[in-house]
Amino acid sequence: MIAATVDRSALETKVKQMYHDVAVNPHGDFHFEMGRAMAERLGYASEDLDRIPVEAIESFAGVGHFFHLANLRPGERVVDLGSGSGMDTFVASLKVGASGRIVGVDMTDAQLEKAERLARSGRFDNVAYRKAYIEDTGLDAGVCDCVISNGVINLAPDKDRVFREAARLLVSGGRLAIADIVADVALPENVVCNPDLWAACIGGAAQHDDYRAAIERAGLRVEVVEDNRHYQFISERAKRATARFGVKSVSILARKP
Ligand SMILES: C[S@@+](CC[C@H](N)C(=O)[O-])C[C@H]1O[C@@H](n2cnc3c(N)ncnc32)[C@H](O)[C@@H]1O
Repeated sequence: MIAATVDRSALETKVKQMYHDVAVNPHGDFHFEMGRAMAERLGYASEDLDRIPVEAIESFAGVGHFFHLANLRPGERVVDLGSGSGMDTFVASLKVGASGRIVGVDMTDAQLEKAERLARSGRFDNVAYRKAYIEDTGLDAGVCDCVISNGVINLAPDKDRVFREAARLLVSGGRLAIADIVADVALPENVVCNPDLWAACIGGAAQHDDYRAAIERAGLRVEVVEDNRHYQFISERAKRATARFGVKSVSILARKP
């Protein structure tokens, strides 16, 4: 599942660069679409989007919708792995209410700074952020009822580690509700080792059965897998790779027994 020749440190640098730009210059040139029109197409409710900061929506770089699978209830505790500029933390905040709690985890300073600023100015008092890797969040075991993540785990070279960490964070009976990029076939080395395609959420896409198996190896039971047919890459290079290898977005619900 991990390409032997992948240069992890170069990938991390590239991913941080790209998502720094997503935070500070969301109207720049990217391989992927961002913003409200895409969020609505993916399934986000306009009533929810109307109640969260516009700047978070502009920098929304997720790949699907999973809140219908997460089914968050008032008072629940949520961890968002790779929270970016915070859009899903704010949507989760609306769903769990004042008695609930959300922690967003991300490694990119500009994303964390933007999400923190927007949470403060929007009075999202039940949301906090933490600078950490999603593979090792430093949070306590059993800290949440639901782990969410949108367009992030494909960026991790070791997906088993991420799913083990998600399983560790969940209480028994807790849910993992995510959207991510997977592929029909194992991607060739020249795609995997291209830092630009990796940071664009293509190069790190696992073959979909391998991805599901990694979730289950972590001790979580996959209950639902849905295709997000409305997600599309926009650059020509990304579209070519997508068509050739069946790269696509899926939403997944899994449960810790
Ligand atoms: C495609 S963006 C998605 C952000 C957010 N979920 C959204 O929907 O807008 C990926 C985010 O994951 C973060 N990220 C990628 N790999 C990470 C890792 N190993 N640990 C922590 N954060 C990571 C990046 O900094 C970036 O903010």
